[in-house]
Amino acid sequence: MRVACVRNWPTGRPFSTCSPTHTIGTKGISIVSDTDSDLSLFRPDLTAADVCAVTRAIESGRVAAGSEVAAFESRTGQRLGRRTIATCSGSVALWIALRHILSGDRREVITSPIVCEGVVDVIRFAGGTPVFADVVPQTLALSGESLADCLTERTGAVVYVHYDGLVGESAPVRNLCESAGIPLIEDCASVLGGTTRDGPVGRDGEFGVFSLHATKSITSGEGGLLAWTPRSPSKISPIDGYPKVGMSDVTAAMANAQFDRLDDILDARRDVATGYAERLGDVPAAELLTGAPGSRGTWTSALIRFDSAHGRVLAERALIGDGVPVRGVDAILGASLPPGADQAWNTVLRVPLHTRMTEQDIDRVTKLLSEAVGR
Ligand SMILES: Cc1ncc(COP(=O)(O)O)c(C=O)c1O
Repeated sequence: MRVACVRNWPTGRPFSTCSPTHTIGTKGISIVSDTDSDLSLFRPDLTAADVCAVTRAIESGRVAAGSEVAAFESRTGQRLGRRTIATCSGSVALWIALRHILSGDRREVITSPIVCEGVVDVIRFAGGTPVFADVVPQTLALSGESLADCLTERTGAVVYVHYDGLVGESAPVRNLCESAGIPLIEDCASVLGGTTRDGPVGRDGEFGVFSLHATKSITSGEGGLLAWTPRSPSKISPIDGYPKVGMSDVTAAMANAQFDRLDDILDARRDVATGYAERLGDVPAAELLTGAPGSRGTWTSALIRFDSAHGRVLAERALIGDGVPVRGVDAILGASLPPGADQAWNTVLRVPLHTRMTEQDIDRVTKLLSEAVGR
């Protein structure tokens, strides 16, 4: 199947990335948006602690991979209960995982079509052929039922993507993969710090992959993590024999400073999400997606599902018209999307969520939404 990879950018104001100015105030450093609105779609939570950590790393004179990288790997490994390797990006972590798994004729990699095009690029670059199964509407992650229909003797791996801060229900997919003997990679790019009913997310697959990109739960600018569980104490590292794929101590210093505040950042994001959920309680036509039952997501964005495609269009117009940035879900547009993914593409909208948002900001977004689609 020939697949056109298209990113669903908003028709209005883009995600603000251009030359933000840094100001140091009493609460530390903050990123001042280059838009006239305080309502960026995403915004990393950066403070003076991050600046100090990076400065210290530079002043130490040891800026290549060293003690900061080792500390970050050990701390994340402890939190996940697995071994971790810090990589230069989440894409590289995913590439390494796929390269380890794919071989011979089994080169089809089943994933969901609600995913950024970068993931599909990595699958191809690792020698795989992407195959798209459907998603569960409540989590926007791979559906076990749909996966079962896609498994063939050519299936080499499954990449289960937890979508944009929502923690999905990966256990049914893990069980299916185990019984079919298909290696599972859990793509947790946006959910470092998230939990399932059973504990930290990222433990279900042969490999767990995380990103520290600026739009993720914590950031080192660019960066990633590969998590795995050695089958025996002597197992060599998955990156042995690879070209350089790791992180520098300067990057890891920032990653460590952010990791210090991971739970605080997640709590602050969760407060904004709670604000949205409470206000949307009065709006039957719109619902905040919260992920799998019993999970705790990382709220890298607020994904709102409308009861119709028309409702989503009305809301999108109202928000963009008032200067509020929005964005649809990412989707890989082939000949046609399967039904759950198609519904997500047509009815789900991302609205601003970051730690600097105020009650007034949340009021403004939800008021615009409810006026557009009716109470
Ligand atoms: C689901 C998913 N997987 C992998 C990646 C790749 O991560 P990185 O940007 O760190 O290369 C991303 C990036 O946005 C992603 O959203």
